[in-house]
Amino acid sequence: MSTVRGEFSSRFGFIMAAAGSAVGLGNIWGFPTQTASNGGAAFVLVYLVLAFCLAYPALMAELVIGRHGQANAVSSLQKLSGNAFNKRFAFAVGFGGIICAGLILSFYAIVAGWMFSATLEPIAKLTRLSDTAQWLSSQSLARDLIFTALFVILTISIISKGVENGIEKWSKRLMPALLGILFLLIAYVLMQDGASEGLKAYLVPDFSSILNPELLVSALGQAFFSLSLGTSVMIIYGSYISRQENLVSLGAYVTLIDVFIAFVAGLLIIPAMYVAQAQGVEIFSANGQLLSEDTLVFQVLPALFESMGEVGLYVGFAFFALMSIAALTSSISMLEAPVSYAVERFALSRLQATWVIGGLISLVSFTIIFNFSSLFGFVVSLTTQFGQPLIGMFCCIFVGWIWHRNGLLTEIRNGYPDAEHSVFWRIWPWYIKFICPLAIALVFIHTL
Ligand code: PFF
Repeated sequence: MSTVRGEFSSRFGFIMAAAGSAVGLGNIWGFPTQTASNGGAAFVLVYLVLAFCLAYPALMAELVIGRHGQANAVSSLQKLSGNAFNKRFAFAVGFGGIICAGLILSFYAIVAGWMFSATLEPIAKLTRLSDTAQWLSSQSLARDLIFTALFVILTISIISKGVENGIEKWSKRLMPALLGILFLLIAYVLMQDGASEGLKAYLVPDFSSILNPELLVSALGQAFFSLSLGTSVMIIYGSYISRQENLVSLGAYVTLIDVFIAFVAGLLIIPAMYVAQAQGVEIFSANGQLLSEDTLVFQVLPALFESMGEVGLYVGFAFFALMSIAALTSSISMLEAPVSYAVERFALSRLQATWVIGGLISLVSFTIIFNFSSLFGFVVSLTTQFGQPLIGMFCCIFVGWIWHRNGLLTEIRNGYPDAEHSVFWRIWPWYIKFICPLAIALVFIHTL
């Protein structure tokens, strides 16, 4: 059994890892698609408000639970719980989060596998391997199984190396690469015809749709998914932060980076849709509605890349490499949640725990692949519409109602000695007790 717990070696390392978890397919695919199908800039505005006013406080609750507990999600929550009933409740919430992370990984790995094969397809075309290129875009069962397995193995190989040499090292390499590719692509797309119309749709809000409850529900769900909340992931990442660090500012950096990348991804995808439309690819119906959300990444954008000739192969490669990197830094955090629990609870070595849990998750992924039409959507809604908001809400309840207020404030003061003078100090404990659980519950009830 490993006795020495891992820890992020630097502020930068933690920020890259936690932002790596947050920034993923949800930012680059989910956010722009939701924006395009929910009234453009109005959605962006609502999203920004909810991300800072609800998701950031909830993220702080998870980080502070983990840093205080210095253990996996179940043990960290149990340390806050005085009596037997609360301990059982803590187990249910922590373990529920871990299962949620594992289930999200099981569908995320399938989508990430598609991204991998789409990254290789332009290379196959450039090297004139046309049969391989055709197979890579074939949507065959074999392709899905192979690339999902490859993606899970890559995730396992990073996680098995531990916190500093695995998660931190790779997040520090991959996140800057992601930013570089994203900006190059934006520069390219903004130079094409039609891009300015896309920018207008993205940045000029139609205020009439702003209070639409559907829009609120989608925006909150997106914010929770994007900050990896309600999955025990931020609890476990919080547990690897040293007591010398100021959690309040670390959490704020992670939220800012996550929101920034989602916003910037919109600057790529929405203008790209309009560029594609200008080139004859059908994206919007006559009344301006997005024709299909699901096919955006796999039909609309590839059609755009194809219309660019040989340059399109390079642009396509860069785009799908970007998606694959974003997916990988998120998937490693999803695997860390169950692995850290298994290592600390069952005295397994990290290597054993990673392979056993990675293997189990692959089995779930394969089951989804074989029953795609009935299981994929089901697992996505189960985890993102039910699991994440509920568990996120329970974490707020733990911090607001079960933890002793003095203990909570002492933990915040670690690494932030003059916290008492901050706005955060005055508002957040009250906010996490009443506003966050209530707001999440309201949105959840609406979803039901
Ligand atoms: N935040 C990731 C994204 O936006 O794609 C997805 C995610 C990562 C969800 C980790 C849940 C999680 F535990």
